Amino acid sequence: MAEPQVHVIDHPLVQHKLTLMRRRETSTNSFRRLLSELSMLLAYEVTRDMPMHEVEIETPLETMTSRLIDGKKTVFVSIMRAGAGILDGMLQVIPGARIAHIGLYRDPKTMVAVEYYFKVPTDMHDRDAIVVDPMLATGNSAVAAVDRLKETRPKSIRFVCLLAAPEGLAHFHAAHPDVPVYTAAIDRQLDAHGYILPGLGDAGDRLFGTK
Ligand code: URA
Repeated sequence: MAEPQVHVIDHPLVQHKLTLMRRRETSTNSFRRLLSELSMLLAYEVTRDMPMHEVEIETPLETMTSRLIDGKKTVFVSIMRAGAGILDGMLQVIPGARIAHIGLYRDPKTMVAVEYYFKVPTDMHDRDAIVVDPMLATGNSAVAAVDRLKETRPKSIRFVCLLAAPEGLAHFHAAHPDVPVYTAAIDRQLDAHGYILPGLGDAGDRLFGTK
């Protein structure tokens, strides 16, 4: 079996924006804008090996053979609610993508993911799925979301986050070794409440200004 893959996107623009997002004093407005910008950059990486085909086109000067992406069958799968913050940036890069939503909440006592919403396009078997959630913390939500998503049999699945904890990555890889993870950083550890350290706090609260 192939080794589980994790791609750490070490691009200076990504790291710069991530540092600004981590800062306690960064406003909700800035946090939201930075997440959107960062998501665009992550979209470049996660789509780097998209299959292409050649077409003949006319430039204003002559005919040439150029390349286009095969099909346009991407679906972004947002894990609610913080996943929503990644959609806007990704859609700037792939505007034709469909959107799926998976609603999971973390039981504060057990930290286990409980599903409350699930809506995906009907033609999932034709689509490459890119699951988005800013934080891969315990991995419970990510594992549950991908478990559920696999029932719809998409052509492929990738997972994109901003920050991953080593514990969450290990959990995710053990459950879904076939799903590559794309992240801007792997942080040190989880705290007792399942928050990533040093992290950036609660991504949903910072994105929506709910705390
Ligand atoms: N979810 C968050 O928003 N932040 C964390 O640090 C962990 C999970």
